[in-house]
Amino acid sequence: MSSNSKTLFFFLAILYFSSVSAIAENEDPGLVMNYYRDSCPQAEDIIKEQVQLLYKRHKNTAFSWLRNIFHDCFVESCDASLLLDSTRRMLSEKETDRSFGMRNFRYIETIKEALERECPGVVSCSDILVLSARDGIVALGGPYIPLKTGRRDGRKSRADILEQHLPDHNESMSVVLERFANIGINTAGVVALLGAHSVGRTHCVKLVHRLYPEVDPALNPAHVEHMLYKCPDAIPDPKAVQYVRNDRGTPMKLDNNYYRNILDNKGLLIVDHQLATDKRTKPFVKKMAKSQDYFFKEFARAITTLSENNPLTGTKGEIRKQCNLANKLH
Ligand code: HEM
Ligand SMILES: *[C@@H]1O[C@H](CO)[C@@H](O)[C@H](O)[C@H]1NC(C)=O
Repeated sequence: MSSNSKTLFFFLAILYFSSVSAIAENEDPGLVMNYYRDSCPQAEDIIKEQVQLLYKRHKNTAFSWLRNIFHDCFVESCDASLLLDSTRRMLSEKETDRSFGMRNFRYIETIKEALERECPGVVSCSDILVLSARDGIVALGGPYIPLKTGRRDGRKSRADILEQHLPDHNESMSVVLERFANIGINTAGVVALLGAHSVGRTHCVKLVHRLYPEVDPALNPAHVEHMLYKCPDAIPDPKAVQYVRNDRGTPMKLDNNYYRNILDNKGLLIVDHQLATDKRTKPFVKKMAKSQDYFFKEFARAITTLSENNPLTGTKGEIRKQCNLANKLH
């Protein structure tokens, strides 16, 4: 070929491949705002209404929706794999140690059923999981965060790789920062997301190693007294519901009181405490302790990134009929 015809060939090849990818993009628009605009226009309102109804009856449902988005989206993909029950072959994510204390899964089904009545087979459990977190955050007094939709549901549990992603209660800050960086969340984002520990509870089993055999000297003595009162046994009875509230000041509010607590050495988990002491994170902790606006701004940005982690879109995955079960294949 002459050099001219080579150039022409090259151009045609580029044109061809870019049109092929344009067609593929048309079939799979990825995540978009208001994905259900035509297929189920009421979807987002139904989710909001259900979240508010459930919140009226059980305030702690909102804590669960907030924790769900972390435990589902952080483990490779926002694909509602968290919600699947165990099968004969596979342990569910819900039953692993990292999911300890997670609750209210049956009320996800309540939301799903309301959607199925209106638009059967249209709205994915992964979008329900993400949008319920958004509306739960608002119920707790946090910011309204516009989020995209169009996720589809995975078919398998990720329990086997869960620990490679979700940090443990005593993980080093270096590992925590690295894992969040892997999905595009920077230090400010990590500090903001941990602000979720401004609501809810921590069971004694996750705390007793800071109290027994010796009290962790890093803990605020005034807080130790309360923790010992709530967790009187070095080996808590796994069946007894013994726990300490994450934020005694405003336990039902998603606010920046968490940052003042951890600066005051009242962080319950080792990761909470380290957030306030590690020199990479401390400047952000101080800034968020001072400014709720700054906390909310970074929190909204990080939740958005988390919610867009590696979704199944287009023809990948499925729309589950029930959130705790993958569909039967015929
Ligand atoms: C380094 C990262 C994190 C670790 C090690 C961690 C660990 C934990 C642990 C051990 C509990 C107590 C569970 C129990 O005893 O019932 C907990 C509770 C909670 N976590 Fe995290 N977490 C982390 C990050 C996050 C993030 C990013 C969010 C949300 C954006 C979140 C939301 C929550 C909520 C809302 C609760 C309270 C749940 C309830 O009361 O039902 N956590 N976390
Ligand atoms: C973290 O705590 C678990 C128990 O929950 C323990 O098995 C593990 O050794 C601890 N890891 C570190 C680094 O201290």
